[in-house]
Amino acid sequence: MSAPLTEQATGRIEGQRPAIRLEAVSKIYGQGRTALLALDQVSLSVAPGEFVCLLGASGCGKSTLLSLVAGLDRATAGHIDADDSRVALMFQEPALFPWLTVSANVEMALRAKGVGKQERRDRAAEFLDIVHLGGFGKKRPHELSGGMRQRVALARALAQDADVLLMDEPFGALDAMTRDLLHDELERIWRERSLSVLFVTHNVREAVRLGDRVVLLSSRPGRVVEDFPVELQRPRRTDSGEVAELAGEITGRLRQEVLRHARQEEPA
Ligand SMILES: Nc1ncnc2c1ncn2[C@@H]1O[C@H](COP(=O)(O)OP(=O)(O)O)[C@@H](O)[C@H]1O
Ligand SMILES: [Mg+2]
Repeated sequence: MSAPLTEQATGRIEGQRPAIRLEAVSKIYGQGRTALLALDQVSLSVAPGEFVCLLGASGCGKSTLLSLVAGLDRATAGHIDADDSRVALMFQEPALFPWLTVSANVEMALRAKGVGKQERRDRAAEFLDIVHLGGFGKKRPHELSGGMRQRVALARALAQDADVLLMDEPFGALDAMTRDLLHDELERIWRERSLSVLFVTHNVREAVRLGDRVVLLSSRPGRVVEDFPVELQRPRRTDSGEVAELAGEITGRLRQEVLRHARQEEPA
């Protein structure tokens, strides 16, 4: 018997536990008069091996949601289940240690797990090969371009032996051409290593280029407005007609959300 359509759309296999599951998660910052509802009853799951893009206007709670999943902060209400997953985070800024070599930056993740020196070096070299930075191990971060530094951050995330990648606008500061290249790289690595990815962006085309699904969050407080399955064949091109068409539809929906929010904020 075939799975229900919604499960097919999410690429989920019946009975399989999600890699990440959020159930009615809310987050309030502060207390009393200054309390700010950042997330309001967000429910969302990412199946093992699934690539989910979380899209929303700035300030809608995307980074908040990732920090809750990563366990850096606690939800005010609701439930988050990512217990069985090894989670690695990647930010817009690669956050490398400038005084360490590229290799040593990647080795940090292995050192934390008690891997011996020589093995650390060899494995860091392997991870740098995966992100096409073989031979750059002895450089310092400032000797690399922005795109290369993000590759190092990706290698470091992989070195954590993560099966779930949480990515917070990781390519937001890069030029369009570099971003395109990194999309290809990330897609390849995601496939080869069967990762589950929760990828935050405010770039609609990027979300459609990468995601199995695009989950649209409303402006503050963040709520799930709509979940768009992306059934376009991979690899996709950001500048293709198909990507543009779906991105146009999602942008229309996003615009409605932003306008609705702006009206609410206007003084009466
Ligand atoms: N530590 C914090 N304390 C108070 N307010 C915060 C904190 N972090 C984020 N916020 C607020 O919560 C809302 C959501 O922020 P954020 O998750 O960073 O949004 P996004 O990543 O979508 O731009 C914003 O209004 C922001 O100002
Ligand atoms: Mg953010």
